[in-house]
Amino acid sequence: MTMQTQKIELSVFVPGAQGTVMGFAPGHELSSFVPKPTTGYQFPKTALRDMFAFLGRADGDGLFLSGPTGCGKTSLILEVAARLNWPVRRVNGHARLEVHELIGSMSLAPVKGGGAATRFQHGPLAMAMREGSIFILDEIDLLDPAISAGLNAILEGNPLVIAENGGEVIVPHPNFRFIATGNTAGLGDDTGAYAGTVTQNLAYMDRFWVVQVGYPTQDVEEQILEARFSGLLDQRIATSMVRVANAVREQFIGTGNAGATLSITFSTRTLIRWAQILLHISRSPIEGSKLEYALDRALTMRARPHEREAIVQIGRSIFGSAWT
Ligand SMILES: Nc1ncnc2c1ncn2[C@@H]1O[C@H](COP(=O)(O)OP(=O)(O)O)[C@@H](O)[C@H]1O
Ligand SMILES: [Mg+2]
Repeated sequence: MTMQTQKIELSVFVPGAQGTVMGFAPGHELSSFVPKPTTGYQFPKTALRDMFAFLGRADGDGLFLSGPTGCGKTSLILEVAARLNWPVRRVNGHARLEVHELIGSMSLAPVKGGGAATRFQHGPLAMAMREGSIFILDEIDLLDPAISAGLNAILEGNPLVIAENGGEVIVPHPNFRFIATGNTAGLGDDTGAYAGTVTQNLAYMDRFWVVQVGYPTQDVEEQILEARFSGLLDQRIATSMVRVANAVREQFIGTGNAGATLSITFSTRTLIRWAQILLHISRSPIEGSKLEYALDRALTMRARPHEREAIVQIGRSIFGSAWT
């Protein structure tokens, strides 16, 4: 698959930024796999620089984006790819994921002229390697370490040999990139906040370039709300909502803060949902605090009763009389 390279202005990513980065001309054969950009998406500058550095080289290593849930790891990749016209294939990691879900397996397919025959159906990783896409393995730390260890050869840049398909050899395309995301830097999780994460084989983590992604800063989160709900959400309300999210994060036991007590946290995803629900119900006749009603549906219904109470208390104290 050949895609024409094309310089893309950095100002597409960060308003006012000078310079260009290498991407692809739009309208290529794999266009249907290029993600759609979200207007108003705010690129985190440091992580963006790391993404460009990684995408710019093709020496086999993978990129591991590590960070708390809902902070923007997956969307960072999709938003960058959208603007570079880089096709993406994506798989969500889970505890029972098997290699054939990545590479492919024999399956029954219709043949021309009627009937059906078993033939090899390539999986998303094999496709990405062959055609030159970005392959995203989300939540890689949920995988069985035996499976992730099996990815070693690919992360070393070696060709993929598919025994099941008559020994087919897939030489990685120069545009192929492997990016994984997860909540821990492959070290498992000893805070108890991320159930199901498994300590990954260190040799295998060695094949990854690790980049930490955090929640956006308060300024940026305010801009995200502003861009997303342009003018619909009162600026002071947005500011206070972001402050509530940050106060909850400080109390989250996954942050490493001594004395933190909450077992759920407040992701950027949850923040956006809170604003969405609030706007949705703004004209509904709801008794009591609409902020609280929306917050319950966005987050605190999932919390234990005493944690819900603690989070609502944070909201009340930050919003003051505006909470009612
Ligand atoms: N910088 C940002 N600008 C705009 N929206 C963002 C940003 N970061 C995260 N989001 C939004 O937050 C939500 C969660 O992001 P996601 O990438 O799915 O998180 P993660 O992969 O870390 O769990 C998405 O709806 C995304 O659009
Ligand atoms: Mg994700």
